[in-house]
Amino acid sequence: MAERENFGGQLAVILAMAGSAIGLGNIWRFPYIMGEYGGAAFILVYIVACAVLALPIFFAESVIGRRGRSGALGSLRSLAPGSAWKFVGYVATFTPFILLGYYSVVGGWSVGYFANTVGLPFSRFNPLHSVLAHTIFMGATAVIVLLGVKNGIEKFSKPAIPTLFALIVAIAIYGLTLPGAGEGVRYLVRPDFSKLSAEGVAAAMGQAFFSLSLGVGTILIYASYSKKEDNLCSIGTGTVTADLLFAIIAGFAIIPAVFAAGIEPGMGPGLVFETLPYVFSTMGLAGGIVAFLFFFTLLIAALTSSISVLEVTVAYVQEEWGLSRKNATLVSSLIIWAVGVVCCLSGHTFDFMDNICSNWLMPLGGLGFTLFVGWRLSRADVRDEFTNGGTINRRLFPAVYFLIRYVAPVGIIAIFLWNLFQ
Ligand code: PHE
Repeated sequence: MAERENFGGQLAVILAMAGSAIGLGNIWRFPYIMGEYGGAAFILVYIVACAVLALPIFFAESVIGRRGRSGALGSLRSLAPGSAWKFVGYVATFTPFILLGYYSVVGGWSVGYFANTVGLPFSRFNPLHSVLAHTIFMGATAVIVLLGVKNGIEKFSKPAIPTLFALIVAIAIYGLTLPGAGEGVRYLVRPDFSKLSAEGVAAAMGQAFFSLSLGVGTILIYASYSKKEDNLCSIGTGTVTADLLFAIIAGFAIIPAVFAAGIEPGMGPGLVFETLPYVFSTMGLAGGIVAFLFFFTLLIAALTSSISVLEVTVAYVQEEWGLSRKNATLVSSLIIWAVGVVCCLSGHTFDFMDNICSNWLMPLGGLGFTLFVGWRLSRADVRDEFTNGGTINRRLFPAVYFLIRYVAPVGIIAIFLWNLFQ
């Protein structure tokens, strides 16, 4: 078998992981979920969820991936041979098939809305249009993954991330200059705790998992392509910070413009795909240009994420079924494509899958990973991986280990229980 590929260096790992993290979750999901749970108040809870839940899980996945040098299933098997821990690997391998199935449908919508901005017809309520757009999106994802870790994923993510930041900042600046945008800014900076329920706290956790690509083996597999000398702590904090920043800037790019058009943001998943096109349409020529840039940003962000999900399934099919990268990509893409088609043809499946993935399967995978690192691996091994053999991050390690061992698992279980018994 060919030698296992690696990313070029630490920066390439951070950019690829940021590419995975920054996606529809930041631009499409975050603003509407925030809109449902009280704006600034939700952002505060979300930041806490990122720091105490997401970051430790991120570290746990990175430790497993780099030590196991393989996907979730392969790594757990080699780190704990013959044990039941491999079932955590099965969860993390099974979830991406569902996740990417519906993700690429929404990715297809971004293809379609982008096509709209250059005058091509597309309606997401037309099943034929949806299936076609989903097929194009999935095809593009497959081509990049087919090219490999370095020549596909790294080459695509590296220039994409700075471009995405530049575009979203430009769109936010434009939105802030619109008359009436001030109301939207107030909404983003002044917390309304009355709208923040326990449900909002649970939603913040689901959003953190979704946005940071956690619990499905994505961070794990990307970490397995990092080098021994890379700093897992910098990679984790760098990626989480980039993702958080992007989500907040995206909020500033969208919410003030929505307020400026006289619309309330608490309106669910249609925010980006219904409200925003309407908002752009009221702005004349400038609106046309902003719409073009906005949906281009959405499309590229979605692609850098979808390739990371497909990579998980491709690595699994390659490692477990012994297929070549080409055939593994073909098989995985076809299965996922079929799941997506079912999604296109039925709106309900879509909500159902989003809820199952973000609020159940991803946290379940994350719980498994933290328990494995916190309780199954030896402290010395975890320390060795996180501190590169005791050369870096030594002071930080005890706090990180405490978060992985106690705080993150207890947090996830508490929210599971709440979700179950509410
Ligand atoms: N984090 C991506 C987003 O925000 C979605 C994703 C989830 C990607 C899980 C990979 C794995 O759009």
